[in-house]
Parts: sequence; structure tokens; C-alpha cells
Amino acid sequence: MSGPYGKDLERWIPRLIAVWRQARGRADGPETRLTPQEVKEVGAGVKQLSLGLTRERKLAGARYMDDPRLLGAYLLFYWPVSYAQAREALGELSARPRSVLDLGSGPAPVAFAALDAGAAEVTAADRSKPALALARALATEAGEALATREWDPLRKAPLPEGKYDLITMGHVLNELYGAGDEAVKPRAALLEQVLAQVKPGGSLVVLEPALRETSRLLLKVRDVMVEKGYAIRAPCMYRGACPALVKESDWCHAERTWTMPRVVEEIAKAAGLHKEALKMSYLVLAPAGEGWPEPRPERLFRIVSESLEGKGRQRFIGCGAEGRMGLAMQEKHRTEKNERFFKLHRGDVVSVTNTEAKGDGLALDDRSEVKVVAYAGQGVPPAPKTPAPPPDEGKREST
Ligand SMILES: C[S@@+](CC[C@H](N)C(=O)[O-])C[C@H]1O[C@@H](n2cnc3c(N)ncnc32)[C@H](O)[C@@H]1O
Repeated sequence: MSGPYGKDLERWIPRLIAVWRQARGRADGPETRLTPQEVKEVGAGVKQLSLGLTRERKLAGARYMDDPRLLGAYLLFYWPVSYAQAREALGELSARPRSVLDLGSGPAPVAFAALDAGAAEVTAADRSKPALALARALATEAGEALATREWDPLRKAPLPEGKYDLITMGHVLNELYGAGDEAVKPRAALLEQVLAQVKPGGSLVVLEPALRETSRLLLKVRDVMVEKGYAIRAPCMYRGACPALVKESDWCHAERTWTMPRVVEEIAKAAGLHKEALKMSYLVLAPAGEGWPEPRPERLFRIVSESLEGKGRQRFIGCGAEGRMGLAMQEKHRTEKNERFFKLHRGDVVSVTNTEAKGDGLALDDRSEVKVVAYAGQGVPPAPKTPAPPPDEGKREST
């Protein structure tokens, strides 16, 4: 199991299975796995959810969580995926949040991920009563304290009161206010309302599917928020309009390797899905009045593509303070100081030196140095504080 959360996730599997069986009025069965009949049953539900939420998108915004068969399928298949995605995103926060509000929680994978990551008070909010009931059953099974609240921004069921260190929205934004550009403004307005309940220094984490359409809409929402003056803590370092929106065919997503729990793997197989890597689009936003992180002194790029290896050459797309551009190096220029370039992954943040502008990107060569500043899933360390110049020197510089 990949990531430091692998063992935590494994502990949830028997709880998910037990709660799923309880909800279906069954008490027996192996603790850590499903029977072949159960796999078949859940696999059929997952197939329906996958078609409805990813391919045809007919279920997006529909009341699928109120259908016990689909809710059960969500619990055993998508719950572990969302949990792992949330642990990946929470790993990038610089401070461990204490109080957390999880909006559009469903059966609360993101809320429990926050608890496992060290949060002390977590509230899960959703419009689906059955999903919240499952979240409470899971909390009982795990001996965890989880508060639940009904919330529906479309029906004006208000946000739970109070201020939080962290508010999370896992795969819910794309289900609100329609499926096209008409959704951008109301989604941004909702994020603004939600951010008003984030404490200073806290964050709003938005996770979305890595599909082209949902991801591009998230980037458009990002642009509205940036325009309004909100800072993005991750993954963006570019402070202007998102350069991935320039070409219709581009979008931006994270991809992390993980080892699927066996039960998820079996269900994926039964549903005819291949879920090898964790893929998601995400944003970590800062509340109003907080600026972008202080820029670091190096020239930084986040790798936003897979490896685009060609004949004798390695290439990636990077996105940094200067925007989105190709980064390429020929194999013959490999040295001890730049060989890291040949082993980068989507999401890594690297510093590069001695590049040359070539085409619409940068060419690295044997003079270039490449260092990983943060691996995918880690936060970029803050810029080192430059000591204030001694008074005399300061005077000399300003004269
Ligand atoms: C794909 S599920 C995500 C569940 C969980 N957060 C996760 O990341 O796996 C989307 C959730 O959004 C909730 N949702 C959709 N429309 C909603 C609305 N108008 N108000 C509140 N919740 C809503 C659904 O009930 C569902 O639980």
C-alpha cells in the first residue's frame, strides 16, 4: 500500500464491509473480503455509478446516494478512493487542521481522512440522509466522534455555523449548478461563502474528478477566485489566469500511485473498470486577505504532465510562476546534477537552472541543475526568510 496512510485505509476495509452488511440486514460473511456473490452485486452498482458519474454524467446532481444499492456500491468502491485522494491532498497542508467541516460528504471518506490525519473535531454535511446515516454507522464501528449535519446549497439549507481550520469539498462541486459554463459563477460564489468560514491560516480543499470537462470547469472557477483576489495554496504557483485553459484539449490533474485495497480491486474487475492510479483535480484555497505564498528564490516548476519521453530526450510540461511550458533535456546532457529530471513524476515541484528558451518551452543541458523541492503530495516548503540587511548596507543600497 502506497503512502503513509496505507495502513489507515486497510483498517477501514472491514468497517466498510460490516456497515454495508448491516445496512443490508446481513450479519455474516468474511470480515475483510466480500463473497463472490457480493462482489458481483456491488460491481453492478459500481458500473452504474461509473457510467452515471464519469461517462454519461446523468447521475451528477441526482439523488443516487438515497438509493441503498448505489450508496452501498459507493461505500465499498469510491469511499476508499476518495479517502486516499483526501489523504494525498491533506498531506500538502502546512499545518494540521483541528476543526474540519466536510461539505458534500456522502458517507464521509474525506471527513474520516481528516480525522486520521489528526483533526480533532469533524462535521460531515450533505443533503442525503441515508449517506449521513452510513457516516454515523461508520463512526460507531470505528469508535470515532463525527458530527453530521444536513446541508444543501441549492435549497438554501445553510452551512453549519462556526469557523473551521479546514473545509473540504470532495467531488461535490461538479454536481452543483449545472454541467456547463453557467455553473462557474455560482460555484465560485459558493466557494467564497464557504471561505468566509475558514479561520485565518486555514484552507478550503476542493477535490474534483480528473475528467476533462469537470477539471476545466474547476480551473474556470479557480480563475474567478483568483480574479477576486483569493490566493491558491496548491497546486498552482502561477498567479494569472490558468494557462491550461488556453487550449481546449488541455486540463490539469494530479496522479498518484497507490495500491488498491483487495476488495476495491475485485469490485473494479467485476465492474469492468481499470483503476490503477489515483487521479483527481484539486485546489487548496486560502481565505480572503491572505496572500499567495512568498515566492521561493529558485526557478520552480510543478510537473503537470506525464513523462513525454521521445528519442534520446525526456520532456515534461511544467507550470510555475512563469506559466505553463515544456521542459526538455536530451539524454546526452545527463549529468549527476540534472539526472533527477529523467525520473520526475506528475506533481513533483522542481527547481531548474541554466535553461535556454527553445520553441514554446525551455531546454536544459549539461550546465543545468535539477532539484526536487517537493515530491508530489508534499507541500512546497516556505521561502527561506532572508535576514534583514544591516542598517548601513540597507542605506547604501537605497542611495
Ligand atoms: C460524488 S459524491 C462525493 C462524496 C464524498 N465527498 C467523496 O468525496 O467521495 C457527491 C456528494 O455530493 C452530495 N450532493 C450533491 N448535490 C448536493 C446538494 N445540492 N447539496 C448537498 N449535497 C449534495 C451528494 O449527496 C453526494 O454525497
